[in-house]
Amino acid sequence: MNFDELVAPIGKDQFFANFAKGACMLIRGERDRFADLISLEEIELRINDGCNNLTPVQMIGSGRRAEIIDKQLAWSAIATRKSELLQMLRDKHSFLMMNMSQINPRIAALIDSVEAAFPNDSVQADLHLYVSTRADASGYDAHRDFPQHKLYLQAIGSTHWQVFETTKELSTDVRAVAADSEADCLKLAREFDLNPGDAFYMPPAVFHKVRNQDGPRVSLSIPFVKITNPDVPRMDRTYVPFRELFEGES
Ligand SMILES: [Fe+2]
Repeated sequence: MNFDELVAPIGKDQFFANFAKGACMLIRGERDRFADLISLEEIELRINDGCNNLTPVQMIGSGRRAEIIDKQLAWSAIATRKSELLQMLRDKHSFLMMNMSQINPRIAALIDSVEAAFPNDSVQADLHLYVSTRADASGYDAHRDFPQHKLYLQAIGSTHWQVFETTKELSTDVRAVAADSEADCLKLAREFDLNPGDAFYMPPAVFHKVRNQDGPRVSLSIPFVKITNPDVPRMDRTYVPFRELFEGES
């Protein structure tokens, strides 16, 4: 899947026309179109690789070892405590895995394609996986994400969305509003369900609240930020065909 397929049936031109206006976009798509992007096995593998999935490979050369990394990328590492995670999954907590833009070659190609859709390397994107293993799992309070834009893809299961307008001026450091304070400063602007194959674009700083009411879900959230420093490199997501290289040697 690439960016054009992601924004179908709206189409790229319409997407960028709405994007320029700062408008949210609800994109209803074919039910199974995100089904092959990620598998439960890939998520299970990544959860179980133990918190070290962002430790850079160290290459040996000239008698030394060295990391081969780009610095100053837009997104950074997380770590996980496994037994707590397991218990929290049993207690109906959702979880988020950031920095998943290379979890498999299909995702890597999609995120590359999102970045390439914008001119002059002007944005960097990531993939955040939001996963719930039970219906009515935990979710964030109403909140706004800033400075990132969001493209949110519903891959498995469904999510219920509430999008809010503010009813009074809020300081920019107010990022979330607890449920019992929503009436003080937020007004529901739209409410909808995202089902498999649906996508939603949201510009920065829009208050929203998302819940999975009906069952387990896997949601792919693609945050992207504008890059103002032209010296910041794009993440190199080249696929390394290790097995082919290994077995191809005689
Ligand atoms: Fe959010």
